[in-house]
Amino acid sequence: MRGMEPLDFRSDTVTRPSPEMRAAMANAEVGDDVLERDPTLDRLERRVAELLGKEAALWTPTGCMANGIAMMLHLSRGDRFFAPAQAHVLGSELGTAAWLAGGMPEALPWEGKPGRITGDQVRRAAGNSGPYYTLHSKLLCLENTHNFAGGTCLSLEDHRELVATAREKNLLVHLDGARLWHAAAALNVALKDLAEGADTVSVCLSKGLGAPMGSLLCGSKDTIQEARRVRKMLGGGVRQGGIMGAAGLIALDYLPRISEDHDKARGLAEGLRALGFSLEAPETNILLVPVASVPKATEILRGVGVLVTSVGSSLRFITHRDLDFKDMEEALQRLAPQAAEIRSVA
Ligand SMILES: Cc1ncc(COP(=O)(O)O)c(C=O)c1O
Repeated sequence: MRGMEPLDFRSDTVTRPSPEMRAAMANAEVGDDVLERDPTLDRLERRVAELLGKEAALWTPTGCMANGIAMMLHLSRGDRFFAPAQAHVLGSELGTAAWLAGGMPEALPWEGKPGRITGDQVRRAAGNSGPYYTLHSKLLCLENTHNFAGGTCLSLEDHRELVATAREKNLLVHLDGARLWHAAAALNVALKDLAEGADTVSVCLSKGLGAPMGSLLCGSKDTIQEARRVRKMLGGGVRQGGIMGAAGLIALDYLPRISEDHDKARGLAEGLRALGFSLEAPETNILLVPVASVPKATEILRGVGVLVTSVGSSLRFITHRDLDFKDMEEALQRLAPQAAEIRSVA
């Protein structure tokens, strides 16, 4: 058994910057990104915009800020937006859409598989314009992969159908692609295909790719120019942002390896099944494991040095670059003696 240092499966955000990343940050070429442009942030924004097939991109410190800016750009008071049930923008961003953008959320229930919504649902929900006192249906918000559904992917076909339906119903589309990298790798399609037709897309460099912070909001030149104003309004205009931009550029080097994290999650799922747990095979790097009591199971796991969080009545394991394949075996060895108790303790 390795030393008892904890194996941290709580999120793919717990990764630490690699020595190479720290060196790049220390040596980054920087400017003042509020007065003019920081050259390294500029380089990162161009690179990500190109990857996603959009005209422009804007760096933000967090995914919440990128999503919040998109909401503020797309929604006004008296508007309504749709998102799949349990989307991050609905329940985990303190209601930015309502507080700051004035939009009323409407959650669409999953259909077919966890996290999935269909064009028909959007068509029905958007309906036809009603009398003056009804909300204007304005925006469709997608999430790929869907975090709380267990990292499930929205397929390219579903994405295209949803975008086409949004157009038909005059809805704008924002895609929360915090883990779009994971979806693209799992589905074996290009990032830009999964972003096609979306008016704005947010992606995160701090989830799975190893950057200490940083997200990008991508869209048309005009949209991103306006987004830069809103970022400043929210206090997100940073000066020598190239320090973080350099970390982001290194983080992108992990893209070709991201499916390793999916393999780790699949291996872990098989091991857990062999220990008697019943669970769905993960599509990406997020694994949900139903248990009788989440607080008790979490405590038992913590006691053997395996850190997890939860979604509903399931434990959530997220694999990432700072845990390797041996760590998966190690985690299974640590929890095996407790497996029966974890499964059954209520
Ligand atoms: C799907 C999704 N969107 C947005 C965010 C927000 O990102 P941040 O924590 O950088 O604000 C998260 C964070 O986990 C997420 O999982």
